[in-house]
Amino acid sequence: SSVSELDVPIYSQENLTTRPVRDIQGGYTKHLGFAIAAAAFGSSFQHGYNTGVLNNPQKVIEEWIKQTIYHRTAEIPPESLITIIWSIAVSIFCVGGMIGGAITGMVADRFGRKGGLLLNNILVVTAAALEGSSKSAGSYEMIILGRFLIGISSGLNAGLVPMYLNEISPMNLRGAVGTVYQLIITISILLAQALGLRSALGSETTWHLLLAFTVIPAIFQLATLPFCPESPKFLLVTKGKELEAQRALTWLRGSASVHEEMDEMRSEFEAMKLIPKASVRELISNNALRIPLIISLTIMVAQQLSGINAVMFYSTEIFKMTGLSDENATYATMGMGFINVLMTVVSLVLVERSGRKTLLLIGFGGMAVVSFLLTIAMIFSKSSVAASYICIILVLLFVIMFAIGPGSIPWFLVSELFNQSARPTATSLAVATNWAANFLVGIGFLPIQKALGSYVFIIFSVILVLSCVFIYKKVPETKNKTMEEISSMFRQQSYQ
Ligand code: GLC
Repeated sequence: SSVSELDVPIYSQENLTTRPVRDIQGGYTKHLGFAIAAAAFGSSFQHGYNTGVLNNPQKVIEEWIKQTIYHRTAEIPPESLITIIWSIAVSIFCVGGMIGGAITGMVADRFGRKGGLLLNNILVVTAAALEGSSKSAGSYEMIILGRFLIGISSGLNAGLVPMYLNEISPMNLRGAVGTVYQLIITISILLAQALGLRSALGSETTWHLLLAFTVIPAIFQLATLPFCPESPKFLLVTKGKELEAQRALTWLRGSASVHEEMDEMRSEFEAMKLIPKASVRELISNNALRIPLIISLTIMVAQQLSGINAVMFYSTEIFKMTGLSDENATYATMGMGFINVLMTVVSLVLVERSGRKTLLLIGFGGMAVVSFLLTIAMIFSKSSVAASYICIILVLLFVIMFAIGPGSIPWFLVSELFNQSARPTATSLAVATNWAANFLVGIGFLPIQKALGSYVFIIFSVILVLSCVFIYKKVPETKNKTMEEISSMFRQQSYQ
């Protein structure tokens, strides 16, 4: 709805009941769009871009590492050493992510959502400088350190961005805006893959620029986010600054008629005073909180141990294993990134229709079947051209199944399962767990692949089947349920 619609006074009872909720809550405004872009493009980008960026230029950079070691020691290093260094460079991103995820709640409350996001750019600029000058300095260690810092930044973003987006959005847009987080991740993975092509920035002479490119969204954010307000909810509910909250809300809604939302926040503020912030210990010891905590953590672990990032990090190598040429393998990787974006848009529409539980079951179930078939196809791909094409189709199907639900829903679900007082702590735990599991796959995939060969995907199949059983038995459907309904459901369960 436009700003002029928002200006229509909505004081009368008649107006309140006959006008659609969309208008009462206020819809999309240019200012809101600006703030979403400033926060999401500036920050979710780091998470996605650095997930995908090492995929295409792997061989080029590995060769450079080999040369660098040779120059230092005058000895040709063994392949196993290069594999270890590469695995560390890829995976240390996730160690940083774990740390960033764990401190999200603290940073968000101390510096604010907007403040935390802005400060986070110091990490991005430092990381980009380190990675960008690694080539001229002849130091692969600088890539590793840069990836660690950008990991911390990405972990922080995984908590801060959804929180800021959620708190600046009117109620009717909250779900859609929440999905923007995963959508930007998928778009930036695709961009990383495209820029990583040899013909773009993935060549022997340009790969350092590819790594430094990650500074661009930080510059964009530093130029745009200062013009946006701090989250009104943070200002009022956390800080008790009523006037500032009202000013922020007025800016975002493009209208001074923000009484409804201010009232809502005020009652949330009062309620928050009664319920103290839940600590980690309370989340574990209180039955009614422990059940949603176990669900949140399991879904995060399942999202990562599904093997999605084995594909995101190493797809070019996987495609080569199926017999594709180097060039075709990189194009196949890009096709995969494109499908990931497309299916995330589809999931955005489906999630409010089919529900979370259904999409999680279809997604994880589909991935279980596909990874099993992929194992069989990989075994035959050595001897049959047809089987190697089937492999490629199956990898794409694997990503489609992931994007249909397991990609975006876990980020949502944590917020849906917890009320205001437990949400920040639960989010910190869930985000840190997600990155820890991401790390396990990053560090473990190559060695396990070396040991098991084509059978590597069987491990994911088993985990996926177990995840489906857990979701079927334990995860409640949260679609169209209020926070109160969900909380009371868990309270009842905890008495049983
Ligand atoms: C999710 C995962 C992330 C993965 C991405 C792929 O955001 O958390 O690790 O790389 O999806 O689309």
